[in-house]
Amino acid sequence: MQNNDVAERGLVLLGCGKMGSAMLAGWLAGGLPAASVWVLDPHPSDWVKAQGVHINTDLPANPAIILVAVKPQMMGDALPSLQALGNGETLFVSVAAGTSIATFENVLGAQTPIVRAMPNTPAAIGQGITALIGNARVTDAQLDLADQFLAAVGQTVRLENEGQMDAVTAVSGSGPAYVFHLIETLAAAGTARGLPADMAMQLAKATVAGAGALAAQAEQGPDQLRVNVTSPGGTTQAALNVLMNQNDGFPALLMRAVDAAADKSEELGRD
Ligand SMILES: NC(=O)c1ccc[n+]([C@@H]2O[C@H](COP(=O)([O-])OP(=O)(O)OC[C@H]3O[C@@H](n4cnc5c(N)ncnc54)[C@H](OP(=O)(O)O)[C@@H]3O)[C@@H](O)[C@H]2O)c1
Repeated sequence: MQNNDVAERGLVLLGCGKMGSAMLAGWLAGGLPAASVWVLDPHPSDWVKAQGVHINTDLPANPAIILVAVKPQMMGDALPSLQALGNGETLFVSVAAGTSIATFENVLGAQTPIVRAMPNTPAAIGQGITALIGNARVTDAQLDLADQFLAAVGQTVRLENEGQMDAVTAVSGSGPAYVFHLIETLAAAGTARGLPADMAMQLAKATVAGAGALAAQAEQGPDQLRVNVTSPGGTTQAALNVLMNQNDGFPALLMRAVDAAADKSEELGRD
């Protein structure tokens, strides 16, 4: 994270819980000096206190970036304290789910450069994926800067419009929970077929983690990887006949699940 502008002007982290701490860890590991970071959080963790960053002190006059990582419901309390830095050169980057760019513009001023981003929980181990979109005031250089800082915890993708954020929320934002449930239910099915519960869980976790890593690294797409392990008339084929059923298999189920999440995201964004 060798960015001289940010190192000199400073980076402010508003809210340093799970997501804020994951990002801070990535930046510090990437070489951002701790002395360039200002954290605002009512209850900083012992880990944050041990990092050598400024905590709940006066902010620099013109920080390069303010990363907003408070819960959406705390936004009303937290944001007004930063109003003085709106409409200026400071780039605001928000990872708050469901809080629109317009909401930030209303509080901070319409001339404020704002990037809205949606990360996911594997960010905690540097394997997240974050989608981002900037408002009209964000320059290409600022978008690159936001991208660079969000990439400290995983991959990034850029959206064409803010409306796509509902689908992103439903696929990658909420998606880790779907996969966790897949692990739970795969393990439960193994237990039902006679395996000890802890062994079934170990098999399910390693299978999902290994298949995920293989899908991420392989040159072939997941459809071909699936075909590769499916002998006609074999065991995998028997299971896929159930899972790939268009009416009640994964296709219909995941379509409904993703629709429900995207609809909820849309609804929350209107509040
Ligand atoms: N975790 C994820 O996977 C994930 C994924 C996508 C997006 N996000 C977004 O990331 C944001 C943070 O989520 P999180 O999971 O990191 O939540 P979190 O662990 O609760 O962290 C939020 C932090 O903000 C602090 N805070 C509360 N009020 C504040 C104020 N007025 N000023 C400054 N700090 C304040 C909280 O302190 P207290 O605990 O003392 O209240 C807490 O340390 C949310 O908006 C969420 O939508 C998270």
